[in-house]
Amino acid sequence: MYNCIELKDNTMVNEKRIISFLKKNDFLKHSKLEQMAGLSQGLISAVLAGRKSFSDAHLEKLYAVLKNFGIDNILNSTVISVMNNKGGVAKTTTTLNLGTALARSGKKVLLIDLDPQGNLSQCLGIDEPVRELKSLLIEDAELGDVKLKIEDNLTLIPSSIKLDEVTIRMNQDRTIPNSVLRQKLAQEEEEFDYIFIDLPPNLSVLNYVALEASESVIIPVEPGKLAYNGLDGAKLVIDQINRMNSSNPLQILGVLIIKAAPNEKIYKGYVPAIRAEEVVFKTEIPVDAHLKQSIELTQNVFDYAPKSKAAKAYKDLAKEVMSLKKN
Ligand SMILES: Nc1ncnc2c1ncn2[C@@H]1O[C@H](COP(=O)(O)OP(=O)(O)O)[C@@H](O)[C@H]1O
Ligand SMILES: [Mg+2]
Repeated sequence: MYNCIELKDNTMVNEKRIISFLKKNDFLKHSKLEQMAGLSQGLISAVLAGRKSFSDAHLEKLYAVLKNFGIDNILNSTVISVMNNKGGVAKTTTTLNLGTALARSGKKVLLIDLDPQGNLSQCLGIDEPVRELKSLLIEDAELGDVKLKIEDNLTLIPSSIKLDEVTIRMNQDRTIPNSVLRQKLAQEEEEFDYIFIDLPPNLSVLNYVALEASESVIIPVEPGKLAYNGLDGAKLVIDQINRMNSSNPLQILGVLIIKAAPNEKIYKGYVPAIRAEEVVFKTEIPVDAHLKQSIELTQNVFDYAPKSKAAKAYKDLAKEVMSLKKN
C-alpha cells in the first residue's frame, strides 16, 4: 500500500507518484535531495528499492522540493478542453473523432467525458458506466479505478447523468477546489500524449474544473450569427481563468470551423471574418450527413464511413494538432 496525504491547500500527495517521479528523473541525485529535503540518501534508496516507505512528513518535505522540478505538471500530456457554451456545435463529435484519429496514428489518448449527458461515453459504447468521472472528482477514486480502455491507445473516463451530483456538491461544498481534476491527473502514472476533455454546453462549475486542468482549448464554431456569441462566451471564461491564474495562461489552440459549406452565403459572410480575428485551424470540418449518421449510431466516423469527407477532415485535423505539439 502506498501512502497518500492531503496538504492544507487540498493538494493530494501520493507516494506512488513521488516514487515514479524520482525513478523517472534520475538527474535528481539522492545526495541533492538529502540536502534540499533533509531526507537521508539511505532512506530514499530503500524506498525506491521497495524496502521502506515514506512517512507523511517525508512526503510533505519531498513534495515541497519536487514541486520545483515539475511534479505537478500533468506528465508530458497536452491537455485540451473542447469548449463552447452553445450546444450542438460538435464538441462531442470533435472529441470523439479527433481523439480516435490521433489514437489510430499511434498517439496515446485519454478522453474525459465532462458532460452529464454522457454522449461521448455512449459513442464509445459505454452506456451505463460502473465507475465514472464523478467518483474521481468527489469520491476518493483514483484514475486507475475509473479509466476504461476502448481500443489500442484510446482510453476513456466515462460519465453519466450522475455527473450532475458533482455540480451540486461543488456548489454546496466550497472545499472541493476547481483544481480537483488537475490534481488527479497529475497523480496519473500512465503517460498520455493527449488528454481531451469534452465539456457540457453551459457555464457550470464543471467548465472551471476542466479549464484548470487544461493548457489549451479548441472552440468549435458553426459559421453564422450565433457563432460569435459562443466564441465570445468562451473567450470571456478563458480571460476570467487567466486573471485568477496568470502564471500558466490557458491558450486557444484553435477555433475549429464546423459544418462548413464554402459555397453558402452564410459561410462567405462569416468565415473570413472569424479567420481575420482569431487563431483558426486551417482544417475545416465540412457539413457531412455521414457524420450526423455516425453520431446517431454512436460510432466514430472512421468506422462508419471511412471514405467520407468528414473522416478525411478529422484525420487532417489530427495531423494539424500533432504539428502544433510543442516539444
Ligand atoms: N460536420 C457536421 N456535419 C453534419 N452534422 C454534424 C457535423 N458536426 C456535428 N454534426 C451533428 O451535430 C449534432 C450535435 O453535435 P454534438 O457533437 O453532439 O454537439 P455538442 O457536443 O457541441 O453538443 C450531432 O447530431 C452531430 O451529428
Ligand atoms: Mg456534447
